[in-house]
Amino acid sequence: MSDHKRFGPADPEDLVQSNIGILTSGGDCPGLNAVIRGAVRSAERLGYGCIGFLHGYEGLVDPIQYRKLTSENVSGILMTGGTILGSTNQGRFCAVKGENTRVDLDPNLLQAVKQSVAQLNLAGLICVGGDGSLAVAQQFFEVGIPVVGVPKTIDNDLSATAFTFGFDSAVACATEAIDRLHTTGASHGRVMILEVMGRHAGWIALHAGVAGGADVILLPEIRWTWDNIAQQIETRRAAGKNFTIIVVAEGTHLPDGEHVVRERRQEDRQTRLGGIGNVVAYELSARLGVETRSTVLGHLQRGGMPTAFDRLLATQFGVHATRLVHQGLLGRMVCYQPHEILDVSIQDAVGQLNRVTLNNATVVTARGLGISFGDLHPTDPFDAIIQSSAQTTADTPTSFPGVIPFIPDLDMPFDSTFIAE
Ligand code: F6P
Repeated sequence: MSDHKRFGPADPEDLVQSNIGILTSGGDCPGLNAVIRGAVRSAERLGYGCIGFLHGYEGLVDPIQYRKLTSENVSGILMTGGTILGSTNQGRFCAVKGENTRVDLDPNLLQAVKQSVAQLNLAGLICVGGDGSLAVAQQFFEVGIPVVGVPKTIDNDLSATAFTFGFDSAVACATEAIDRLHTTGASHGRVMILEVMGRHAGWIALHAGVAGGADVILLPEIRWTWDNIAQQIETRRAAGKNFTIIVVAEGTHLPDGEHVVRERRQEDRQTRLGGIGNVVAYELSARLGVETRSTVLGHLQRGGMPTAFDRLLATQFGVHATRLVHQGLLGRMVCYQPHEILDVSIQDAVGQLNRVTLNNATVVTARGLGISFGDLHPTDPFDAIIQSSAQTTADTPTSFPGVIPFIPDLDMPFDSTFIAE
């Protein structure tokens, strides 16, 4: 039998054995192949065959497109980026509109998926994806399709899991970029701006900014002003530092609350953010007369080899997902909570975004170092934070004097939005 089938009908050989299906959906990220390998190897040990659907959910129906997966043909993929199954964040399977509005999938489509699952004798379908893809998995589960979810996103913005794989690799990439900007920025005495991914949450900007020694970090969660950034640059200049490193998440709002977008929402795909780095560079240059340069890191953050941390986490997720299928624990999503691999119901997990809070440990560390978030801060920020942190719980946004907590809303109308290109 051919190892790679483009179109159905199913091979009779696939129908005799109980199988586990797996697909990767949404934007790719480092570690997807490690999940696939972990799921396939552990499934084989439990006596299942494995079927990998191609191009995300699209491969499930009309036409059905899949590969038989075996220990042999997933060998050597642990350290590779991307996904051997392909992925898409567009197409017929769209279960969420805006930030969190449910869209019911076409019942005929759901029926067709059910038929594919029955035809291929699937004990379970492992759906690896971000928030939007897991919302599709939840609707599958509601009509009786045996799914298990695996969370994936470099943005690390799913609250049911402390970390998603891909995030650490993205942070490593962004940190290296900051290191490189440091040397050239210092040589020329420039303000260097790095725009990183982070649609709803600024985790990549925050972690890479601190790890790379940035001077200003701009996040979707913290409202900032031009004056406050300018002040940080001037303070550094007065201290003899002629360059400044600014890291900005693509989903950060401008001070007037607008997003910078590259391409407005189309029917089956989300608005493409991007370009805020250029806006920041232009404005600071105009205000301060400083030389600025902006770099958009873009998909470099999503490509390439996963870090050791991401390989390990992804492998653990793959093995745990297989175990959930084997134990009949369906409608569950695997997750990591220090220091255990656990699972939660997909329903509870979707739509619950994990955003940076003002009293997050890394935010507090950054303020302790004198890194500016461009927000208004107390006269003695470090002391005030120590006092405020002591009074608040870990996941409640802190109200620092003068700080306005800002919850971003990607559903906001885009008609007044600055278009970068
Ligand atoms: O959700 C992950 C993410 O990398 C976001 O940070 C970014 O906005 C988006 O995907 C980019 O998607 P695409 O590859 O479709 O441009």
